[in-house]
Parts: sequence; structure tokens; C-alpha cells
Amino acid sequence: MTQTVKYLKDYTAPTHLVPKTDLLFEINEQYTDVWATLHIEPQNGATELVLQGDVKLISIKKNDETLPETAYSLNPNDETLVLPNMPTEPFTLTIHTQVEPQKNKSFNGLYESEGNLYTQCEPEGFRKITFHPDRPDVMGEFTTEIRANADKFPVLLSNGNKIRSGSLNDGRHFAVWHDPFVKPTYLFALVAGDLALTSDFFITQSGRRVVIEFYTRQADAHQVAFAIESLKNSMKWDETRFGLEYDLDIYMVVAVGDFNMGAMENKGLNIFNTKYVLADSQTATDADFEGVEAVIAHEYFHNWTGNRVTCRDWFQLSLKEGLTVFRDQEFSGDRASRAVRRIENVKLLRTHQFAEDASPMAHPVRPASYVEMNNFYTMTVYEKGAEVVRMYHTFLGEEGFQRGMKLYFERHDGQAVTCDDFRAAMADANGFDFEQFALWYSQAGTPTLQISGSLKKNGGNLDYVLRVKQILPDTPDMPASQKQAMMMPLAIALFNENGEKGAFKLPNDDNSYNETILIVNQAEQEFVLREVQQSVTPSLLRGFSAPVHLQFDYTNEQLALLLAHDDDEFARWEAGQTLLRRAIFANETALQQGNDLPQNPLLIQALRNILNDNNLDAAFKAMLLQVPAEAELWGERDHINPVQTTMAREALLDEIAHALHGELLATALNARESENADKRGKEIAFYEYNPKDAGLRALQYACFPLIHRFDEAATIEQVFEHYDEMARKNMTHEWGVLSSINSNASAKRDELLARFAAKFDHQALVMDKYFSLIACSRRADTLVQAQAALNHPRFALDNPNKVRALIGTFARNVPHFHALDGSGYAFVAQHIKKIDAFNPQVAAGLARAFNLLKRIEPQRQALMRAELEAIVALPSLSKDVREIVEKILA
Ligand code: ARG
Ligand code: ZN
Repeated sequence: MTQTVKYLKDYTAPTHLVPKTDLLFEINEQYTDVWATLHIEPQNGATELVLQGDVKLISIKKNDETLPETAYSLNPNDETLVLPNMPTEPFTLTIHTQVEPQKNKSFNGLYESEGNLYTQCEPEGFRKITFHPDRPDVMGEFTTEIRANADKFPVLLSNGNKIRSGSLNDGRHFAVWHDPFVKPTYLFALVAGDLALTSDFFITQSGRRVVIEFYTRQADAHQVAFAIESLKNSMKWDETRFGLEYDLDIYMVVAVGDFNMGAMENKGLNIFNTKYVLADSQTATDADFEGVEAVIAHEYFHNWTGNRVTCRDWFQLSLKEGLTVFRDQEFSGDRASRAVRRIENVKLLRTHQFAEDASPMAHPVRPASYVEMNNFYTMTVYEKGAEVVRMYHTFLGEEGFQRGMKLYFERHDGQAVTCDDFRAAMADANGFDFEQFALWYSQAGTPTLQISGSLKKNGGNLDYVLRVKQILPDTPDMPASQKQAMMMPLAIALFNENGEKGAFKLPNDDNSYNETILIVNQAEQEFVLREVQQSVTPSLLRGFSAPVHLQFDYTNEQLALLLAHDDDEFARWEAGQTLLRRAIFANETALQQGNDLPQNPLLIQALRNILNDNNLDAAFKAMLLQVPAEAELWGERDHINPVQTTMAREALLDEIAHALHGELLATALNARESENADKRGKEIAFYEYNPKDAGLRALQYACFPLIHRFDEAATIEQVFEHYDEMARKNMTHEWGVLSSINSNASAKRDELLARFAAKFDHQALVMDKYFSLIACSRRADTLVQAQAALNHPRFALDNPNKVRALIGTFARNVPHFHALDGSGYAFVAQHIKKIDAFNPQVAAGLARAFNLLKRIEPQRQALMRAELEAIVALPSLSKDVREIVEKILA
């Protein structure tokens, strides 16, 4: 079966516009009738109208007259409805369709969850509701009437403002919503059900009052306060940092437990995965609170970057996503712990996006083609896209960047545009040449910067010459030989042997600097830094100034120097990470060759200094102690032996745990003391989320697994005894303790997990945590436990959060997913096949676990391949999974 590939180069402007769409939803027990009236404006004398739709068609009227079936043709294969002989003057079509939301487990289009109805239309879900030119460059004004039983569906919501409501016969009622802002179909939303309302308000900078409404299940209403605060903080921040004010008089957020992604920015009516709305200290960890704050902000920021200015076509997705991720990252950084937030973002990018860039799924930030658009909501489009936006910011500075944003909105408010339009606004507002920068949107793969430095005499002075070579990788879409050198900012500073930042001068410039941003824009180039000191250790790619691999031949001593002294937290952390990576690689080599494992006295001493440093911020200290995960270590390597990497990594963890046991214990106890200090004599409920305490807790649980590793028997005893006391404080402590001992082989661990599950039996989001603990344990019986968990009464294969918690987590559990008997691969593959039958998007997400196929050693590669071939052999396989698996196998 061949699949239809869509190409960016084939873009053509719409033949018909739809400036107004009037919708009527008649919600019944078994099905929902939809009448859509499209006010159509043909362009340039077009007569053939093609609408998108994948839904049961009942009838079509043209200007109130019913069309005979001979007047159109339905093509289920490409989801189109073709009407060949339409007028060239404006006309209306009224289309009657019928949907069965109760049967929709794809959570795409109109679907039911716990008796309520919700929609998800991005990117192409609207066509599951009615026929329409379902593409983002066709924008219009929507009016939506909803009719339903008043008892079952007391709440009826859609985009914009409620303009009418009232009762009907037979216990039914109705509401009419009108959205005054033009929007594409993907931003349409409808919610109908029995939901609890929590309201608040926000006064905008111009003094307008915006009503805030959060809708949840009754039982969850007490958990929305933090999300509402986060929304208000986001609204304020967008005014002060970007000068952007909210435009409607109401902002609604609805939380639903069945949701494929994180959340959706529908105009005036966001729909959220409960995971990113509900949070209280007894059920959510500090990381969960930070996730809620970031996603609430992300969806709010889309109101300008996404909704007011949207994408011309789906290839441009990063126009709104990369920019909005950049904005939410900046918001989080401004809220608290900027440096730690930055490092977390880099870690995420390097672990998952770099892996994607090195995989068969590699694609540019603006993909050139796709089969199923849902497969392109990727780390590359989102996270690398945000790095690309960050590079504009680095080149232009905050003021220049804001000038660019201002021009972007002046030019494009109310339009559907491209990444080139954004680039042009940045360039034109600043007189900056971003021509070459466009390559970031068209060339896939992670560039490598190979840098070397040398001192040169220059008269009585010394020059430091940096040679920078950029290497672009082959990717499935384009060989390296066809790629051109990219343009990127390289932030640098120079340190002397005492760890002090040294001054230098630039060519043709007599000012003294102690840091600068070099513009890399050639395949190979040299930069001369003048009048430097005798000893130079360069600090490179400061702040992670470009999304690249960096190669520089540091000595371990130089890395230790940067780790001790660099004032750029990213560069400082990275120096430590490089030492840790080197130590793990050395262990891998020793394991391969059957040699004794090397010792790492310099690394251990550097870590000891960090643990003993009382001036370091706790959250940052916790980051410095993180040992890179397996996926971060694989980079672009071939012949990966995953379990050997795990063993090499575990051996280093053992070395650290033993060499630094005393320091780890003292650090953890100190952090606990500091956390408790201001709480003495107060209620336990005082252990609420705040960034400072979160940092202290992060440090405790960076140390605790290593403390457990040092003496498992004693630690599990201690945890077993004090569990309730720890758990009573908050979920971060409860989770931290359980995670730390989760790989312990004793029955006590099982008992603790069982107690946890019993305690939170009715908290769906906490049960997700229980399932992920089962799935990420490195205990020998993890697969058996994961299989048993499938039958747990709270597990549900049709709930995406549950699937991701159990099966998704298992697929990232390196020694178990990659078990040499193939059992891990079989377990995941079996569920991809099962889930694909009703939720292709979630199944396709799981299929990405096999991305490593070609880079893994032959024995496992054969096992993986067999599973993948069985998947593609399924005749009814979705195009979502097929696209991913065929690319992996190609
Ligand atoms: N626009 C949403 C966000 O990033 C994501 C929606 C993706 N939905 C999907 N079905 N792929 O905020
Ligand atoms: Zn988004």
C-alpha cells in the first residue's frame, strides 16, 4: 500500500475562502447531528470546490436548495468531497453530517470522555466533524449553536463570547457562541457536559476586565488554583515583556483526562490534558507544578503567536510552536531559576531532539513533506524550533528581537503566514541579514562544531586563534554533500589557570572584552582574539548559543577548571557533563575489552568540591549531580550495545556513591534542614510548591538514590519505617523516596508501591505515577510487573496518559526494552498493534521507540526488525504508524 505524501513545494493558494461559518450541533444520546453553513467566496473564477471531510454525510444544500447526489463525489481515500460545478459568485453550502463521539477513541475530532463531549481539531480534526476546506490559510468568523439535554449537558461551550442561551422542549437547552476573530478550523472547539466551574478575573494593562473560567470534573475543582494563578502570571508577563494584551472578554480552560497531547490553544477555549491543569501538593510533584505553569503559559501565549497570526500551511508549524516554546521558556526563566530552566531545556533537546535528528525520522524545523501531519508535532519542530528563535534573539538582543516581533504583528495580524515572513520581520526591523539563517528551516540533522585553539605571538602580545569547522550530517532527506554552511552565534569567554575570566580584544577594535558572540557562517573559519593571557581555557557555546554538538579537545583538568569557575551556568554544567560522559565511555571500553574499570579521582574530587560548596544554589547543585542518561550518551554512534551502556553508567554511579557517601549524606541532610527551617511548628500542609523549596527537594533527591545505592539494605529499611512521615509532607517527597528505592529487589519495595497505589486509587494522575514507577524500575521482574499492571483495575489501554505512563515509560527503560531475549520489543510492539486499531496517534508515539534500529548492534537489530516487519504487515495499519515504521525500516 502506498501512502500519499504531501510536499511543501506543492503549496497553492486556496481556490475558495470561507469568511463565515455557522455551526449547529444537535447532541443526542447515540450520535450528534451537525449542520454547517459555509459562506463561500470563490477565488479567480474557480468552479470546482474541494472540501475535506472524513465523516458521515447526510445531505448538502446550496443556497437552500438540496443538491442531488450526482452533484458531488465523495472520496474516502483522500478524505475529500468534490463539487465540480459551483458558482463563481459567493454562495452558501449547508452540510448535514452525523458523528458518533461515544465511539471515538482516537480523541481526534468530536469525542466523548466520561460522559462529556470535547473536540480536538489541530491539525486536521475538524474534517471528522464536517466538510470544510480544513486548512489553516482559510480563516473565518465562527458562530456555533449547541443544543443538548440540560441535565446531562448543563455546560455548553465554544469559542468567543456567549451571545444567547435558553431552554428548548423535552428538557433540552441551547447556547450560541460567536467568535469575532477570524480563525482557521483547527482552532475551533466545543465542550458539552456536566462540569464544575471555577472563576476568576484579570484586569489587562488597558484596564479591561477578562473573565477567567476553568472547567473540571466536580471532584477535581479544588485542584485548579495553581493553574489559574499561572494563567494570570502569563497574562501579566506577556503584557510587560512583549507588550501583548488579551483580546476577548473571556478566557476558558477545560481539563479532560482523555487527551492525546498536552493541551490545545483553541481561541478563547483552551482544552487541556488534566495533567497540565490539576495540581496540589499532595498529588503533584514540584516538576508537575512547573509543567502546569509552563503549559498554561504556552497555550496562553499562542493567542498571539498562533491564533492572531497563524500558519499558512502545516509545514510552517514551527512558526507558531518554536516561537511559542521560546516564549514559554523565557516566561519560566523570568519566573525563577533561569539558569536551571535553561539547562533542563538543553538536556531535553539533547536527549530527545538530537536523537530524532540522528534517526530515520530526522526532518528540518520546517519539514519538506509528510504523510500524516500528526507525526510532525515533534521535538524538532518544537524544541529545535525554539532554539532557532532563540538564535534570532541572541543575534539581535532583547530590544532588536522585540522590534522584530512588533513588525511581525504590524504586518501579519489576522493572517496565515510562513517562517520566511517571520524571518523577514526580524531582518527588516533590524537591518540584519538573515538570508543564510534560512538554512535552519530547510536542513535537517545536528551540526557539529569542531573547534581548536592555539596561542600565537603577535609582536609583544599573544593572540588566541580559534579554528571553527562545521560538519553537517547526512540525513535521510538530504546527503551532507548537498548541505550548505549554516549561520549561528557562538558565545565564548576565555579563562586563565586561576579560573578568572581574561580580557581580550577583537580584530580592528581596541575595546577590551571578556566575552563575545562570534558569528559562525562558513564551513571553516578562524577567529582571532587579541592580547590574551598566557594560559587560556576557552568557554565555548555559552548558554548553549546554538543547537549543535561541540567538539573541543579539553584536558580533564581544563574541564575541572570550568566546572569549578565558569560563570555561565550552562558552560559550567556542561564541563561537568563532559567529564561524566568521558568516565562512562571509558567504562564501556573497559567492559568491551574485559579490563578492570578505570577510577576517576579527578572527577570525584570535582564532584566533592561541588557537594561541599555552600554558595551553590541547591537546584543548580542538583543539576550538576545528574549523570547523563543512556540516550544522551549515544549521540550519533553506531553499533550501540544498550545494556553495556547501562552497565558502564551504573558502574560510575557506584563509584560516585561509594567515594562520596559522606558528602552525599551531609548534602541531603543539609538540604532537608534548610527546607524544614522555616516550617517548624507549622502545619505539614505548608510543604507547598515554591521554587526555593523545590530546589532544596531536587537536591535531596539527587543525593538519595546514590545514598540508597551505597547501602540498599539499610536504606530500604529506613524508608520503609519513615515512609508515611515523608509522604505526608507532599508528593515531591513521596515520589522522591519511591523513585530512589524503586529498583530495590526486596519485597519491601513492592509493599511500598502497593500502599501508594491503594492510597491514590481514585486519583487518576497519581495512578499514572504508580504505573510509571512499575515500568521504569530496573529490577529483574519489571516486565512481569508491567504485564500484571495491564490488568490493574485503574489501568486503561484507551487512556493515553495510562499508556504513556506504563508502556511509554517501559520503552525508555533501557535494560528492559532492549532485553536480549526480545521480550521488551515484543511487549511494546504488541501494544502498538492493539492501540493502533483505535488511537493511531498514541500508537505512532510508541512506535518511535524503535528509532534506534539501524544504530543498534546486529543481534538486537534483528529482533527489532522482526517486530517492525510484523507491524507493517498489518493490512489495516493506520497511516500514522505506517509512516513511522516504514521510515525506520527504509
Ligand atoms: N498546538 C498544541 C500545542 O502545542 C498541540 C496540538 C497538537 N495536536 C495534535 N493532535 N497533534 O500547544
Ligand atoms: Zn503549542
